[in-house]
Amino acid sequence: MSSSVDQIKSKIDIVSLVSSYIKLDKAGGNFKGRCPFHNEKTPSFFVSPDRGNYYCFGCHAKGDIFTFVQEFEGLDFVGSLKVLADRAGVELEKYSKGDKTEKEKLHSVLEQAVFFYQKKLSENKLALEYLKNRGVTDTTIKDFRIGFAPAEWRELYEYLLSRDVTEKDMLQVGLVKKKEAGESRAYDTFRGRIMFPIADSSGRIVAFSGRILTPDEKSPKYLNSPETSLFNKSEILFGFDKAKKDIRLKDYSILVEGQMDLIMMHQAGMTNTVASSGTALSENHLIKLRRLSNRIIMAFDGDSAGFSASDRSSNIALSLGMELKIADLPEGKDPADLAKDNPESLRECFKQTKHIIDYLTDKLVARGLEPRELGQEIKKHILPRIALLPSTIEQSHFVKNIAKKAFIKEEALWGDLNVPVPTLSRHLQYRVPESSPPHKRLEQIERKVVGILFWQEGKDVEIEKKVKKILGEKFEELQKKFEKEKEALIFETENYYNDKNNLGADIKELLLGLEEEYLKKERDEVRNKLQRAEQSGSDLEIEKYKKNYHLISQQIDKIKNKNEE
Ligand code: UTP
Ligand code: MN
Repeated sequence: MSSSVDQIKSKIDIVSLVSSYIKLDKAGGNFKGRCPFHNEKTPSFFVSPDRGNYYCFGCHAKGDIFTFVQEFEGLDFVGSLKVLADRAGVELEKYSKGDKTEKEKLHSVLEQAVFFYQKKLSENKLALEYLKNRGVTDTTIKDFRIGFAPAEWRELYEYLLSRDVTEKDMLQVGLVKKKEAGESRAYDTFRGRIMFPIADSSGRIVAFSGRILTPDEKSPKYLNSPETSLFNKSEILFGFDKAKKDIRLKDYSILVEGQMDLIMMHQAGMTNTVASSGTALSENHLIKLRRLSNRIIMAFDGDSAGFSASDRSSNIALSLGMELKIADLPEGKDPADLAKDNPESLRECFKQTKHIIDYLTDKLVARGLEPRELGQEIKKHILPRIALLPSTIEQSHFVKNIAKKAFIKEEALWGDLNVPVPTLSRHLQYRVPESSPPHKRLEQIERKVVGILFWQEGKDVEIEKKVKKILGEKFEELQKKFEKEKEALIFETENYYNDKNNLGADIKELLLGLEEEYLKKERDEVRNKLQRAEQSGSDLEIEKYKKNYHLISQQIDKIKNKNEE
């Protein structure tokens, strides 16, 4: 496997890889862009083509092509290996037939199920008719690999068994189940349902969602696979694998509720859409989306437009600093209905969006409440949301707006806004302080010197020699001290010397400075001793320290003079 890793590394250039995910600009010998792993306006994410790695000065993310793909796509190492091997055209022997990892095996079970369901759909007139009536085209059926689970107890089970899939594996991916643990035979989880395969971010199938074809009283309309080792509901967004590219491109994502909504949105050309599909939108989901774009539009169908269902998720989005807008759909219509009946008006709805706070304010104002009541509603539903906004500038923008729209004094709104902000979760702490406390001069010089050493390691032996001469035994101690920050220091130094040619002169100055600082430290120690001796020591001692003190002072002056030469 290590040979494949090396092969892949030699074939994939980190700049072109990262550029296929985010926009990079040249910065000296390096490239920089806005960090995909945290929220930022000014670029602090640097990529080095020479070293094949990246570093973010904001959130300290760092690594190589493999960690990049892992973090970005939410994959494990093997997953990233596969994605990159594909890209590099490298064959992964270890993962070819016969020798699969556990995960690979489970994916392949699900793949076989997709194939089975697809075949069954092509043979079932009623199911095909249903999809046609809902406006789903043949191309969409193919693209989304939609299938049908026959209304029988064990058709899939028997099929998979005939293909040497064990019952244990079927159970593990949730395709079959047993009523009670001890029961002898398992039966198909999905029966009589239109089947939508759910993929992970790299497009591998991890689960299914099935919509009942002929509704009955007992069965739920939609049935999803249970959580499994492959299917983590708080991580996986339906359609994410297909939408991610377009989200980055258009720089916003659209969030809808249901499977049909998602499919029809994509069919109508809004391919930057993802769906939460039944489970509540989690912080993880939103962070995943935020990596691609900070802007998100949520579709509210006319009925639920209020303060209910998406409440929590919209609040998380706001507190994550995302720009959240709302597309207002006609009452009683969901995106799937609209896409079928009037795709043009659907697209229009997504062009005319409002920031959630404006949206909610307008809704409230339109209710024509009495001023006092309006004020109370605003305090209850709108102000807590404004309090979530991380930027005071934004807060004041909305406070102004509300004051105007609802005829409430701005001061009164600010007063109410001051109530303790509802407990925010971890993600706010995750912000990095804008600037770290200033280092002392010695520390600063040390950082710079070690940075140059790390940067020039193996390239410029002369520098290393010079530094060693001055530092003596401190040399290794200092390298150890900064070892943890190695990548950061290299990038820092490299950026600094980007278009400067005065490395040699700088080194000279830095080393003199270092010497000076060390001497000053030494002199401080002598001064302390001298003071103590003056209180309780012998004259001899006092004399010794005085002499010492002067000697060091002279050395320091010498350095200062040299520096001014
Ligand atoms: P809806 O009941 O609004 O269904 O549920 P829908 O999306 O309009 O479905 P169609 O158009 O009739 O096919 C919205 C979403 O909630 C989840 C599904 O993801 C569904 O798309 N859901 C709904 C379930 O998980 N289970 C259910 O029983 C019903
Ligand atoms: Mn619907």
